[in-house]
Amino acid sequence: MTRIRKAVLPVAGLGTRFLPASKAVPKEMITVVDRPAIQWVIEEAFAAGIEHAVLVTGRNKSAIEDHFDHAPELEATLRERGKEELLNRLLADLPAAGRLSYTRQQRPLGLGHAVACARDIIGEEPFALLLPDMLSLAEPGHMSQLMEVHEKTGGNIIAVEEVPREDTHKYGVVAIGEAMAEGVWRITGMVEKPAPEDAPSNLIISGRYILQPEIFRLLADQAPGAGGEIQITDAMKRLLAEQPFFAVRTRGETHDCGSPLGFLKANLAFALNDPALADDLRAEMARLLKAAP
Ligand code: UTP
Repeated sequence: MTRIRKAVLPVAGLGTRFLPASKAVPKEMITVVDRPAIQWVIEEAFAAGIEHAVLVTGRNKSAIEDHFDHAPELEATLRERGKEELLNRLLADLPAAGRLSYTRQQRPLGLGHAVACARDIIGEEPFALLLPDMLSLAEPGHMSQLMEVHEKTGGNIIAVEEVPREDTHKYGVVAIGEAMAEGVWRITGMVEKPAPEDAPSNLIISGRYILQPEIFRLLADQAPGAGGEIQITDAMKRLLAEQPFFAVRTRGETHDCGSPLGFLKANLAFALNDPALADDLRAEMARLLKAAP
């Protein structure tokens, strides 16, 4: 089985659901507890064995590159002030030189188009795709769970999660056939953002994928779909006619940080998962709920 060495993280979207916060700050840099969302997702990818991450960026996104680079003045000041522990933590967070690549999507034409921008860096091997506005709170992380299934099945893998039917219009939704194992099914169809009555299931695509490189050939001539954007789901649907796809219902939680409510929920869930914060946060939440109108 080919090992999955590379991951694509598209970060070139406009983040319109998160305005005005995302006007000058990339939404992927918005903080969940103590680090930007993109850092959580890179950590998840590296924990799953990814060796190299390709970030597809756009205009206004240079803060992301700066975040994963040395900050000489800051580091010198922390050293002078004897804040060695903080400094060492910052340095430990830096991916080793050469583990990240950046390529630009010059216009935000859609997620499928963003993924296509990484084709030359990925080359002819299967790769992971992680959407940085979907945060997974799970041990092992969702990407690791996908890797585990891929080792057995090969092919293309999509992480899915059950949602209430009325929410299907916000996501890609899969149709499933035969169960391969507990929580693993053969995918028989996919549809992007269906109305609840048209949705083939309530299993939504939750932002983690393993894809075969043939997807790039299909993305090259993929016509715009839902929302006038070039959608990865439309290209995956075409690849489904040639190759097997498997849905994996991941264990743990997914938080959609693309909207303010999802982002707030992610912050609370991640903080409640942090022993240094959980007890104090519980007490604060109880106090706030009591005081709320
Ligand atoms: P989203 O649709 O959630 O992000 O895409 P968006 O377009 O930035 O947000 P809204 O809908 O306007 O609020 C999922 C991921 O794909 C990236 C986004 O940055 C996000 O991480 N993306 C989306 C691109 O890189 N390029 C695109 O053209 C579209």
